Formats: sequence, structure tokens, C-alpha cells
Amino acid sequence: MSGGLVAKGMEVSFGGVRALRGVDIVVSPGAVMGLIGRNGSGKSTLFNCITGFVRPSGGRVSVDGKDITGMRPHQVVAKGVGRTFQTPRLEARTSVLTAVTCGLYASVRSSLVGALFGSPWAMREERLLRERAEAEMERLGLAHLRHVEVGKLSLGLLRLVEVARCLVSGARFIMLDEPAAGLTSVEKDRLATEVRAVAARGLGVLLVEHNIDMVRQLCRSVAVLETGNVLCQGTPDEVLRNDDVIRSYLGALGDIEDAAGGWQ
Ligand SMILES: Nc1ncnc2c1ncn2[C@@H]1O[C@H](COP(=O)(O)OP(=O)(O)OP(=O)(O)O)[C@@H](O)[C@H]1O
Ligand SMILES: [Mg+2]
Repeated sequence: MSGGLVAKGMEVSFGGVRALRGVDIVVSPGAVMGLIGRNGSGKSTLFNCITGFVRPSGGRVSVDGKDITGMRPHQVVAKGVGRTFQTPRLEARTSVLTAVTCGLYASVRSSLVGALFGSPWAMREERLLRERAEAEMERLGLAHLRHVEVGKLSLGLLRLVEVARCLVSGARFIMLDEPAAGLTSVEKDRLATEVRAVAARGLGVLLVEHNIDMVRQLCRSVAVLETGNVLCQGTPDEVLRNDDVIRSYLGALGDIEDAAGGWQ
């Protein structure tokens, strides 16, 4: 198996619905890979089966050549793959600092018992976690918000908190599911700047987005899904002028805009 985050031949069915029909995707370190396609084409399902939330009926997933197929979500995080959800899943009353620090827990080795008894080792790990979380918040311009409840953040800041959580977990690959949905254009620009910076640090990013401008700006390569198949793949320019993509996806963007509640 080759380097990068590689999903090969992914198959997922929900009852009679074949949500993925042999999808191949490669996310390379230091690059943003785009994943686009109409509503229901299988984008989130691909995220879910790579990250252990849905068990694929076929296909293999590997990270830098190591097989992670069928691992549970916390094991996938520990292997260096972080993700965000299309609908943020953070508890509204949690502080930004806690939310970001919790992104780390899957990657630490302290046992619960060790933590309960306050062993020096567990306490040292706890301190390291906080330092990493603080550094990541600083980098993303969130440090001044550390004590603010996430429920009080704008959607744009909430998306950055989700990115920070992925980063502090030590992820080498992050998967963002429609991170720009519902953001203002200023928030989208800030998010795009941060995603670019993440890739510049050498991480691989898989970006699901209906925002074509953002895809064009950020992605080195783009795959288009249609009813669980990869319809085509290439540079943003190649993909966006492909006749099948124009017919199948770009022509439907008005519907998607309605479903997403507005985007630019
Ligand atoms: N948990 C589930 N149970 C049953 N069917 C599901 C489930 N999750 C997804 N599906 C179905 O699988 C197909 C792919 O859905 P998925 O959510 O992956 O699409 P998507 O490309 O992410 O769409 P969107 O752009 O609307 O987010 C759809 O037909 C959907 O109804
Ligand atoms: Mg989705």
C-alpha cells in the first residue's frame, strides 16, 4: 500500500441503497484534495467509512501504508486521521479550551485509572495536552476565546475550533465535511487561509465542499462523486469543465444552495 491516506474500492450499503460502489481516493501529505458531488452522492458516507463510523462491506483504507480498515473511530484518530462533521457535534456548554483539548484524548496513553489517581505520568500528559491545545488555539487565533462556551461562538469560529481539535489530536490527515456551509464570505476567507496553512505544514486535507470558489482556490486535485461512484477526477479546472460534471453536478448547484440554506 502506498503513502498518504488511501481508500480503495470502498463499498457501503444501507439496506437497499448502495451508497458507495467501489470508490478510490488518495489524499497526499501537504495537499488539499477536494471531494464534490450532489446531495446524497456519498461524500459523508465516504468520510464515515474511512473514520470508522460506518463499516464498509468492501474496500481497504490505509495511512502511510498501514491498514486501518474497520478500525473504530478512536483508533482511526490515533492512527493520524482527524475529521469534522457536517453538523458540528460539540456540546454547547463546553469551553473552547476543553473542546480543543478533548481532541487529544484519543491520542494519549494515560489510563483512566492513572488519571483518577493523579499519577505523575498522567498529570504530565495532561499538562502536555493543554500546552498543545494552547499552541494550536494560538496558531488559529482562538486563544482569547479559551474560556468562551462553544455554543456562544459564531459558526465561523466554531468551524475553526473543530479544525483545532483535529490538529491537536496529532492528525497527519484531516477530513473536513462542508466546513464553509453557512459561513459569511469573511469567515470563508479566514477558513480558507487556515486550511491552506494546514496543508503548508505538511498535512493532507480531504475537503468536501459545495463552495466551488473555495475548491478552486485550495484544491490540487478534485474527485466528483455521483451515486456512489467517482464520476471523474483531476485538477479543479479539468473537473469543472468536464461535460458530465457540468450536467450531473454544477447544473444542480441551485438545488444544493437551497438545501444548504444559502452559500456563496
Ligand atoms: N445512516 C444511513 N442510513 C441509511 N441511509 C443512509 C445513511 N447515511 C447515508 N445514507 C444514504 O446514503 C446516500 C449517501 O448519503 P451521504 O450522506 O453520504 O451523501 P452526501 O454526498 O454527503 O450528501 P450531502 O451533500 O447532502 O451531505 C444517500 O442516499 C443517503 O440517503
Ligand atoms: Mg454529506
